[in-house]
Formats: sequence, structure tokens, C-alpha cells
Amino acid sequence: MAKRSIVDLDLEGKRVLLRVDYNVPMAKDGTISDDKRITETLPTIRYLLEHHATIIIVTHMGRPDGKIVESLRLNKVAECLSALLQLPVKKLDSVVGPDVTQAVADASQGDIIMLENVRFLKEEKTGSEELAKQLAALADVYVDDAFATAHRPDTSVAGVPQFLPSAAGFLLEKEIRVLEQVTTSAQRPFVAILGGAKVSDKITLIKNLVAKVDAVLVGGGMAFTFLKAMGYVVGFSLVEEDYLKVAEEIMEAAKVKGTRLVLPVDVIVTNEIKAGSSHRIVDIEEIPADRIGVDIGPRTIEQFCAEVSAARTVVWNGPMGIFEIPEFALGTEAVARAVAANADALTVAGGGETASVIDALNLQDKFKHVSTGGGAFLEYLEGKQLPGIEAIDSAD
Ligand code: 3PG
Repeated sequence: MAKRSIVDLDLEGKRVLLRVDYNVPMAKDGTISDDKRITETLPTIRYLLEHHATIIIVTHMGRPDGKIVESLRLNKVAECLSALLQLPVKKLDSVVGPDVTQAVADASQGDIIMLENVRFLKEEKTGSEELAKQLAALADVYVDDAFATAHRPDTSVAGVPQFLPSAAGFLLEKEIRVLEQVTTSAQRPFVAILGGAKVSDKITLIKNLVAKVDAVLVGGGMAFTFLKAMGYVVGFSLVEEDYLKVAEEIMEAAKVKGTRLVLPVDVIVTNEIKAGSSHRIVDIEEIPADRIGVDIGPRTIEQFCAEVSAARTVVWNGPMGIFEIPEFALGTEAVARAVAANADALTVAGGGETASVIDALNLQDKFKHVSTGGGAFLEYLEGKQLPGIEAIDSAD
């Protein structure tokens, strides 16, 4: 059911509790290494300011498990937001309590307050009604723009909107719109590209996609579990022995459904996973027993890129090899460029590693949509209901 949009709210002079996901990657020196999750919320924040709202921002950062962790304070995040908006952002050192209540009472229209990392409170993870009510008491309405946290039933995500009128911000709306289109009305051919290390992380996703798409291209470490299940020798490549049966079932389901499950025909093998180690291309029939598969090979790249070029809808999650090592990143890069080059297709990517590859290659603008979600993106595509979306009021 469609959710209420921020544009349907009367915001004039209202105090708005804005849940965002500013769980951004931080470099060792404490600077933000990728501010996409912040920049993507700017349209919502600017809209709220245009409507003379007072904004109270709630986000988490990392997994502090209900304790104060100094390195996970939000000061840098608030500074970054302030620099992007060219406006002051008043960062508080608490999530709730007298200081927060006072700061909110003192705030004027157009002020932006950022609460401290909500996961410093253990109640954020327990669905605490008390915390939900305390947060709700700070505002008149709740706006959710935290797609990347929508799969978590956390108090500030699923609890607070029970006590305030709620609506989706522009980022959340955009993410839902694209994923809805992909899952309900995708143009064909529809190709999914799946990579990453483990089959076990993506069973539900693969099963769900096999039922929806025309072809699933499988790369990354997970391809070796499938290849072993097919009877190939894969040497020391990553194989999840416990999932060989599952891999067989997935291949069988694809056959029954008429979905092509496309596996590598050649791979790059090495004796050691490190930069500068010797490596070579081998066909999958010839993987040496003492080598490790670390990327898809050139014939596979050609095949995957041809599939991608002919598609009208492409969904991509997960690298094709160990992309952190330049010699083993060629498959991932080639696939990224092929998806980016297909300007006629609805091209959608998601997941932390996938998004960072796209960023590193400067291809963000060539994709129709790069999700800010990792787990949330995958769970949506698995067909799950996300608590953060469910909790928002329906459109009238
Ligand atoms: C993410 O980075 O995927 C979200 O911020 C959720 O974080 P979590 O996996 O720690 O809940």
C-alpha cells in the first residue's frame, strides 16, 4: 500500500523528527570517506526548511550496543551536514533527556538539531515504548528518510511512528519507487548479477530472483559453491560445503522456471590472495587443485557483458572477484562499466561493496539508481516486508 509522502504533511512551523541513516564509512583519521547517505537526504531537509519546520535529526552510527563509544559520536556527521547545507547544525550530546528537551524548546523555525547516536541507548534495539514516546514527544510529525535502516525493527524506526503522524521523505520514496518497479513491473529481458563471497548470505535473494528474472549471472566467491555442486574441481576456492545441496536446489528451481543461471566459464586463479601474487586465467574444467579462484575470466566477462547489454532491467549486487586487489578487480570493473553503458535499461545497484566500486569508477551518474541500502536493499529484493516502511502511515 502506498505510504504517505512528506508532501502530504502540513509542515508549516512544525517540529519534525527526521530519521535518517547517516551510518557513513569513516576513514582512519576520523573523516567521512563517503557522504552519499548524507547528500541523498538534502532534498528532504531543504523541503522541510522551505516549509519553515524545525528539524530534529535522529540517526545511528555503527553498532555501539547500547553503550557510549566516543569514536561513534556524530560530531563529524553534523559538521559534514552543516557544510553541505551551509547552515548551522546544532549537535547535541544526548539522545533524550532534559538537555534535549530544552534544546528543542529553545529552537526556532528553520533550526536543525542533531541528536546523539541513537544506538548509544540500549532501548533503541529493544523496541522500547518508553524511548519511542520520549522521541515522539520532541516533535509534531515524523519523517522517515532512512531507507538503509528500514530492515531494522529499531525503536526510532518502527516504534516512534506509532506515536506521531508519519510520512516518507524523498530518499525513502525514491528507493521504494525504484525497487517496486524492479520487483513488480520490470521490462524484459531482466538480468540479475549476483556476486560476493557466500551463497549462504544470499539464498533467499537468489531464490526470489530466480522466480522473477530471465537470467541470473553468478560471480564472486559464491560461484565456486555452484561450480563444485556441478562436479567441477575448484581447488582451494571458497566453497560452502553445507550449501552444495542448496546450490543444486537453486539450479533445479531455475531449470523448472526457465531462468538461465549463468556461471563463469573461466576464472582467474592464484596461489595467494595478495597484491602482486602470480595468477592466470583457466577454464573452469581446469582449475588446479592447489589454486584459489579470485575473479571471473575474460570469456565470462564477455558473456556477462553481452547479457547486460541486451537487458532492459538490470539489478546488481556483489563484486565478481576480490576487487580490493587491483589484479582481481577486472571482472567487477568490466561488469560495472557494462551496466553503466546500458543507458536504455533500468539499471539498479545496491550493497556497500557494489556502491563503493561504482563510486571508485565514478559511474554513479550512469546508473539509474544506486541504493543507499545494503541489508535493506537485499531484504527488499528478497521479498520481505521492511519494518521501517511498514511503520509509516499509509497515503490517504
Ligand atoms: C547499514 O549500514 O546497512 C545500515 O545503517 C544498518 O546498519 P546495521 O546493519 O548495523 O543495522
